[in-house]
Amino acid sequence: MTKARGSKNLPVKSDARILMCSPEHFAVDYAINPWMDPADWAQKSKSLGLRARREWQGLRRRILSLGATVEEVPAVAGLPDLVFTANAAVVMDGIALVARFRHPERQREEQHFERDFRKLWARGLLAGVRTMPDDILLEGAGDCVWDQARQMFWMGYGPRSDRDAAAVVSETFGIETIALELADPRFYHMDTAISALPRGEILYVPSAFTEAGTKEIFDRTTAEQRIALEPADAAVFVANAVHIGDDIIMSHCSDSLRERLEGAGYRVHATPLGAFHKSGGSAFCLTLRLDHKSERGSVAQRAAS
Ligand code: ARG
Repeated sequence: MTKARGSKNLPVKSDARILMCSPEHFAVDYAINPWMDPADWAQKSKSLGLRARREWQGLRRRILSLGATVEEVPAVAGLPDLVFTANAAVVMDGIALVARFRHPERQREEQHFERDFRKLWARGLLAGVRTMPDDILLEGAGDCVWDQARQMFWMGYGPRSDRDAAAVVSETFGIETIALELADPRFYHMDTAISALPRGEILYVPSAFTEAGTKEIFDRTTAEQRIALEPADAAVFVANAVHIGDDIIMSHCSDSLRERLEGAGYRVHATPLGAFHKSGGSAFCLTLRLDHKSERGSVAQRAAS
């Protein structure tokens, strides 16, 4: 039985299950992307820390209000970027492929995330946990964006992940994975550069891609499906959006973009995440979908069952 949206103010239950990590230890303590300025953070660390907690709660509440389930992993002192769970793994058809990070500052997160995924597996929320080969880097869903409409992954490589990770992803899940080089240091993770909406539209930051990458995007989309972000929207991480069905959550939305998205049948929810922008992250980075399913069921899942 389907319940009318908003009846008794209760959210309509969604299948979306989203992994988050509370920002109690979030800070900008080092710089591994152009947005991060530890000296600037240090000057206002108290107020920015409070703001981050408030903003993160706002995002969490918004996700819950849309009927999704939130799973939390524990925050760890000394690991300020653990809050960006999108980087923890690529999860598809119940299998988590745990990340391998480029920078030593974030490599320390790998063991925590692996343990967290094994716990989710023990609770029956995952069917299996895989790790990357030692010498191939992949920073999780942050660099491997699922496109439900096309049943493929858009993988980004260069600043963080290795091009060779695409073969690992496609072998693990039996899903087409195309690797595009990321060309603009400000958009160093694929999820800052592209968002694949469920009805087939692609939000993307034109400057983030090489000519070859842009051609790939053009080859796989129609003109109506492509939404090139204006620099002002790109700079507030509009591409880093979370979508739950036709609801899209982002930190900020310009009037023209809102009009375009609402015209295409989406509902847009803006929730401020400025404290996280100072670390180079926004809504999508702070979440990891555990429930994504491919239409055919992945190779890994079939092997696990
Ligand atoms: N400070 C973090 C880093 O540079 C931000 C990560 C944002 N995550 C993302 N999926 N884009 O690694």
